[in-house]
Amino acid sequence: MFIKSLVLENFKGTRQASYEFGRVNEITGDNGTGKTTIAEAIVFALFGTTLSGSNKTEALILQGEEKCSVSIAFVDGAGREHVLTRIRGKSKQLSLTLDGRAVTQPDVDAMIGDRKAFMAAFWPTYVLGLSDAEARELFVGLLQSVPFEKVLEQMEPEYRDALAGLGFDDPQKAAARVREQIKAAEKEVARLEGALSEALRAASVEVPEGVAPEKIRKLQEEYEALSAVVQTGAQEEVAVLEREVARLAGEFKHLKEQYKSLTPRWKPGDRCPTCGQVIGPEALAAAERALEAAKKELEQRIREVGTRGKALQEQLKALKEKRGQDTRELAVRQRELLEKITAARERNAARESILRQKAEAVEKARQYQEELEREEKWLEELRARLQAITQYAARQAELMASQLAGYLKRVSVQLFDVVKSTGEIRPVFRLLYDGKPVQVLSASERVKLGLEVAAAVKQITGRD
Ligand SMILES: Nc1ncnc2c1ncn2[C@@H]1O[C@H](COP(=O)(O)OP(=O)(O)O)[C@@H](O)[C@H]1O
Ligand SMILES: [Mg+2]
Repeated sequence: MFIKSLVLENFKGTRQASYEFGRVNEITGDNGTGKTTIAEAIVFALFGTTLSGSNKTEALILQGEEKCSVSIAFVDGAGREHVLTRIRGKSKQLSLTLDGRAVTQPDVDAMIGDRKAFMAAFWPTYVLGLSDAEARELFVGLLQSVPFEKVLEQMEPEYRDALAGLGFDDPQKAAARVREQIKAAEKEVARLEGALSEALRAASVEVPEGVAPEKIRKLQEEYEALSAVVQTGAQEEVAVLEREVARLAGEFKHLKEQYKSLTPRWKPGDRCPTCGQVIGPEALAAAERALEAAKKELEQRIREVGTRGKALQEQLKALKEKRGQDTRELAVRQRELLEKITAARERNAARESILRQKAEAVEKARQYQEELEREEKWLEELRARLQAITQYAARQAELMASQLAGYLKRVSVQLFDVVKSTGEIRPVFRLLYDGKPVQVLSASERVKLGLEVAAAVKQITGRD
């Protein structure tokens, strides 16, 4: 940008003045004659502030006047000529026009570029009035960012390998991302360690003794044998007895019928069927005796059969009772056996299940171990990456800072600090002249510092 001319009205101590500028200008005059006023007018026209950057500009109006105005004619970077006019009243800005058209400050800013850089180039002591943060921002803004590949070239091979392919612009952002990844990986490692120890614990539980299948088979056999006894047992004996009792009952009935059918063969007065003579009293008496004898004999038989039948029935009853008793005892024994068998089977099933769970836990532990190793390797990789990024940031900062050094002689500007313990880059701001901080400089040293910085800014930004 080339400022061609300036017209002031009621500006500071100047009622009216106009100046024409060439490529190089010498402004001389006694104190209080308006040299600084020219610079202030230019800044006021361009930015609407004082030289020190303040917006409190009502003091710029000539005492006793209502408003001031400044017009500046300049040639822009594209070679076009413009006239910018700013008028300020007592309480507010009245107008801002560019080439006769009303514009706003952002329009003007867009034409002039970074305001701080302009001011630093234009007014040598401007930087000294900035806060450290503002000054740092100014210098960082002047630096060209060094491309990823360029920084990589300057790094040791081990770090270069860790960064290859990452291709980031801002190492601070990249580091923050990797730190997040590290945190996540550490959390995952902790989770896997927990899961692994849990699985190992499950894999080492004690397995209870089982019951040998041989033993279960024997119990089973005993059980089956008892079933057979319960089913067949004394059945044969009972059946034999029952058959005998039934046979005796039949015989008893038969004998009774036989007894009933015993009747006297002849009554007195009956005749002999062969000779036809009336049967005599002897013969009748003899027949009567024979009938009595037969009756006696039958009675004897009936008694015998009855006694025997009764005895057998008693025997059968006792046998059946005994059999019932035996059956109950066998059933108890059977139940005991069944309980033993069931318990043994359950025990073996529980053992099987524990063995299965153990095997599963062993498999899980193996998987967790594998995952853990993978995750730990990834974590290691991330840590190496973070270290490499940190190194990268340091190297990039160095390369950026060295750009400034090329433009400065007695002034040095430090914008980055390397944190010794971590290698991290920390933003700092130190402005030195001959190695001395600004606070200890004399007035002339401060001006010299400002001039050197202004010259550097002009060169770096291509301003004149
Ligand atoms: N608002 C104002 N009204 C009247 N006079 C002013 C006003 N502001 C500054 N002045 C006067 O204008 C002069 C400023 O001159 P300046 O440009 O600083 O001189 P120098 O040539 O020494 O740099 C001083 O005499 C100052 O008193
Ligand atoms: Mg002055």
